[in-house]
Amino acid sequence: MSADSFIALVERFPEHLSEAKLLGAGVKVQGVDKVVVAGIGGSAISGDLLKVYCSEKAPGLHVHVSRGYDVPAFADSRTLVLAISYSGNTEETLSAVKAAMRKGAKIVAITSGGKLMQQAEQLNKQVVAVPDGIQPRAAIPYLFLPLLNVLHNAGLIPDPSAEVSAAITSLKAAAANYKDRARSLAEKLVGKVPLIYSSDRMAGVAYRWKCEFNENAKVHAFSHAFPELNHNELVGYTKLNANYYAIVLEDEADSRRIRERMRLTREIIGNKGIPSTQIVIKGEHLLTRILSAVHIGDLTSVYLAKLTGVDPEPVTIIEDFKKQLGKVPFV
Ligand code: PA5
Repeated sequence: MSADSFIALVERFPEHLSEAKLLGAGVKVQGVDKVVVAGIGGSAISGDLLKVYCSEKAPGLHVHVSRGYDVPAFADSRTLVLAISYSGNTEETLSAVKAAMRKGAKIVAITSGGKLMQQAEQLNKQVVAVPDGIQPRAAIPYLFLPLLNVLHNAGLIPDPSAEVSAAITSLKAAAANYKDRARSLAEKLVGKVPLIYSSDRMAGVAYRWKCEFNENAKVHAFSHAFPELNHNELVGYTKLNANYYAIVLEDEADSRRIRERMRLTREIIGNKGIPSTQIVIKGEHLLTRILSAVHIGDLTSVYLAKLTGVDPEPVTIIEDFKKQLGKVPFV
């Protein structure tokens, strides 16, 4: 895929959400009261977004994102393990499925194929099959929306369908505006190290921005959350060792105190010579705000790639790493 085709793919995020909105609607799981999302990288981020969503929609629900070879010790027969691997061939996720089996957890796989699809079929587990042939991180609509449908069917969250439709409508209407904002922010980020800050509640969204800068623009980027960052990261502005640019993601539902922290932090780091942009995330529903913030970040990262002459699509260094590790016996 050419760089421009990949950028066009990222720009079609709202259309992909439309295509994905019924994925997972046929999956039925009963008798569960907690959720583990097992995955890594571009597949795991959907679990982080689910956590953000559930913080408002099902505040009592325990949602844990497990990025590794195992599942947490609390996993049991009343735990729903959503194993997400876009390729279906990620060793950590395949291992986590085995661990979930040993715990007697209920397992649903979300994948475009590979060993995870085979493993799930052999074990007679339900599978959400997603379209193949794109980068895992670009498949986020197909990996995230099924989580909402599966959790709703399991009786863990309210019906998300009206909010999903509202989010898609809102994102389509704002498409041109988001592209303009992303282009203008990307111009400011050339030669900078992006630092993305949000409230603790929205940390999953800030982390998505970080990973998109890493994988699309091929630069270092870091995310952190308020209030915690005021108690450590802020001190790093005393002795600057890189060309930073802070991006503050303010959700309109963030508390007044958090917004005050954002304002004061920008003022303090501005006085140290660090430029920043505050993006206020607006929308009637939390889901609209999560998805619009993700979309603006994705766009910014691919536009930054374009501006710096980088092909946003391939992640050769990850693939090479996996190949080299694959030569070492997995015991
Ligand atoms: O974005 C990427 O390519 C990676 O972060 C992958 O998502 C990660 O390596 C895991 O692969 P998969 O999503 O296929 O399980």
